[in-house]
Amino acid sequence: MVVPGSHHREDKIYHPPEDLKKDAHVPDFYSYLALYKKSVDEPEVFWREVAAEFYWKKPATGPILQYNFDVTKGNIYVKCMEGAKTNMCYNVLDRNVKDRNLGEKVAYYWEGNSPDHSMAITYSQLLSQVCRCANVLKQMGVKKGDRVAIYMPMIPELVYTMLACARIGAVHSIVFAGYSSESLCERILDAQCCIVVTADGVYRGQKLINLKQIVEEALEKSRDKVSPTVTRCLVVKNHSLRTKSGEASNKLQIPWDAERDVWWDEVMADVSDDCEPEWLDAEDPLFILYTSGSTGKPKGVLHTVAGYMLYTSLTFKYVFDHHHDDVYWCTADIGWITGHSYITYGPLANGATGVLFEGLPVYPHVGRFWEIIEKYKVTKFYTAPTAIRLLMKYGKEPVQKYNLSSLRILGTVGEPINPEAWLWYYEVVGQSRCPVVDTFWQTETGGHVLTPLPAATPLKPGSATFPFFGVEPTILNEHGEELEGEAEGYLVFRRPWPGIMRTVYGNQERFENQYFKKFPGFYVTGDGCRRDKDGYYWITGRIDDMLNVSGHLMSTAEVEAALTKHAAVAEAAVVSRPHVVKGECLYCFVTLKDSREFNHKLVEELKGLVRERIGPIATPDFIQNAPGLPKTRSGKIMRRVLRQIARNEKDLGDLSTLADPKVVEVLFSQRCEAAA
Ligand code: WTA
Repeated sequence: MVVPGSHHREDKIYHPPEDLKKDAHVPDFYSYLALYKKSVDEPEVFWREVAAEFYWKKPATGPILQYNFDVTKGNIYVKCMEGAKTNMCYNVLDRNVKDRNLGEKVAYYWEGNSPDHSMAITYSQLLSQVCRCANVLKQMGVKKGDRVAIYMPMIPELVYTMLACARIGAVHSIVFAGYSSESLCERILDAQCCIVVTADGVYRGQKLINLKQIVEEALEKSRDKVSPTVTRCLVVKNHSLRTKSGEASNKLQIPWDAERDVWWDEVMADVSDDCEPEWLDAEDPLFILYTSGSTGKPKGVLHTVAGYMLYTSLTFKYVFDHHHDDVYWCTADIGWITGHSYITYGPLANGATGVLFEGLPVYPHVGRFWEIIEKYKVTKFYTAPTAIRLLMKYGKEPVQKYNLSSLRILGTVGEPINPEAWLWYYEVVGQSRCPVVDTFWQTETGGHVLTPLPAATPLKPGSATFPFFGVEPTILNEHGEELEGEAEGYLVFRRPWPGIMRTVYGNQERFENQYFKKFPGFYVTGDGCRRDKDGYYWITGRIDDMLNVSGHLMSTAEVEAALTKHAAVAEAAVVSRPHVVKGECLYCFVTLKDSREFNHKLVEELKGLVRERIGPIATPDFIQNAPGLPKTRSGKIMRRVLRQIARNEKDLGDLSTLADPKVVEVLFSQRCEAAA
């Protein structure tokens, strides 16, 4: 059978381009192997050299890393350079301005939701704004160790606030400003935040969102709970709500409590831009970031100062092969770990110039990303597979309208990337000259853990390739036995690296149960993984998304990758459904590209494609047309909901994390009763 859209470009190996190798930090695979060996054989020497680039008020005297990863031997802990004193903010700002003479260098090009709004912020300006904000927070009563909730759009004040917290030793807890008041309330209460920093509102595309109103509702709800903690609220006037001529283009009704609330502009005007950093212990907390848990209650992932600083800085430098003339753009929101590590801390630690983008990929037109790359001559671009697949739907024309010749490296993160999307990214966006670094990591890992290095690693589309320095992955089977060579199973790590999480805030027991109980001696990622004959690692999706059809273990991701190979398919999501003979069978949701029609012929082609790519055992039993898929606001497909639709379970539970709950009704109304 000739399968439409099926090529074998994905079986090719993509070698790093020669011109990238010339001045790369890690110019070939042998250099990678040598450095990797050093990082695992002599971790103390390796990390001490990395630490030497930073400023330490008091240097480390003891070992760089101390840990216990084995629950049978006592409490789990990881410590990096305990006893040393430093400050993250000092290292990412003052050190650049004073020691590296980068004061006049642009730290961020800020680009608003509307193309009419933009500004450049230099390192000196950033330092001055951060110090002012730090003084404001102190005036408002924030002290070292206090938790500060931040609920803000992608505006410069978000970066000022997080760095101001880091400067005074307050612990920021950023809540993505697309979360509901309920979610915000839950996170404020869990971390017992004493203050919320927010903005009046934000435009997302053409939609105006009243953030202050959401904060108001969250605080209202927290008052019903046992111990409301927030006593102050600092509110930024988002200047991008105003038109060029300065008049307010919004009609927001801002709720106001004169005892609690203050306007940012008013308090910032009166404070000094000089603020001595608080010298913290290397193991003092830096921030909490909530990530969804399998039980429903979010987990407050805690990261500490020194380890996170070393790790985000080093991964940024090597994975994006950073050089001083780069313009780097990560399209994530700072409300997620990708933004924390690779918009704020990692790039600033390297003195990089970054783009900070408030808007959406398709507003005011579907070429917005490419327009921004052309405008700022972006050299390194980092985005998510879901964005790539969205933009793929519009074809090549919107990409080819812009000059993307500045691009040198492309990156992706967040979910397994299907080879079809990888190739489109590589060929259409990168014009076949930019390596694609498929970075696997988690909120918990702090930074990249499996990733190619762009000038060193030969790429296979869809593989996150090899471990980063200091990271030792292993694949285990169900019984916890280590698998050698070609194998598929649970992805775990044998030892910590500096940037790994320290605990679940306020719940050490949950931390140990979640990540260390299942296989004593290992950190369990929760992801499935395959190692191929060349030693490449392929993330196969969350273990809880694993399917067992007739005793064969397979991942949703590999079936999805097969389905998206079809020229008519934009996106696919696969879940299991109980089956009398096979145990489980495959129920597939497919979103078609514009103008494609869903019919019997297509269903047959898709089944043939999966059979061809994976084997007859993976033949889908059900294929449903899905005009939209249920996704979280960060773009992750909620497979739990799809599983319930497939199983006709009407009680769907909590849907509050869905970006658009309406898609669920549509999918229910069109579900497949009988096998295709
Ligand atoms: C998934 C995002 C495959 C994985 C940084 C992980 C990936 C979860 C990749 C963490 C990738 C992230 N390939 N899967 N390159 N990157 N994931 O905490 O399932 O939001 O466990 O961190 O995303 O999501 P989180």
